Amino acid sequence: MKELKDRILAEGRALNEDILKVDSFINHQVDMELMSAIGKEFAEHFKDLGITKVITIESSGIIPAGMTALELGVPLVILKKASSNVLNDDMIHTEVTSFTKGNSYELSLCKRYITENDHVLFIDDFLANGEAATGVIRLLRMLHATMAGIGILIEKTFQPGRGKLEDAGFEVYSLARIKKLEAGSIEFMD
Ligand code: G4P
Repeated sequence: MKELKDRILAEGRALNEDILKVDSFINHQVDMELMSAIGKEFAEHFKDLGITKVITIESSGIIPAGMTALELGVPLVILKKASSNVLNDDMIHTEVTSFTKGNSYELSLCKRYITENDHVLFIDDFLANGEAATGVIRLLRMLHATMAGIGILIEKTFQPGRGKLEDAGFEVYSLARIKKLEAGSIEFMD
């Protein structure tokens, strides 16, 4: 997606070979016009798949996923990372390990919001190792729902996320595919 790639080149900062900072328009301050265009792009790409819900993980996925859900006319479900101290039998959980952040967290979903009739689109800001997406797939399987596809704003193609997800049979559609990062330089795939 040209608008996103142009913005990454103009404002993104490669901190090192692994991490791209996009705090001025995605992760901290958010450009809502860009998010609206991203929602339209994902909705157009996935419109014929019979999607019943869009799912994402708090926090940076919420706005692009919400824009996509709005365009598709379906609800948005937000997976929670923080554990709630209110006991709730309706919640299911799975553990996700983040290699980028060097931590593990529990993803939680209330059973009432996804059923076996749901065909779900997962949207997230970054794809690195694919661990978050794999955790979402595990939760959907527990509820016998199906994954329609995975929409990513920024994919780091030098990390194994896409390979893992495609090998498991899922479509990954990324709006910007980064081939290489170096302090001060960003190279796209195409
Ligand atoms: P994975 O799911 O593909 O395995 O990714 P990983 O666990 O490695 O990523 C963990 C967190 O780090 C995610 O944010 C992800 O968006 C973020 N992340 C990964 N690579 C980059 C990067 O190059 N730049 C930036 N800015 N973030 C990156 P999170 O912990 O879910 O936080 P939030 O921002 O959504 O709250």
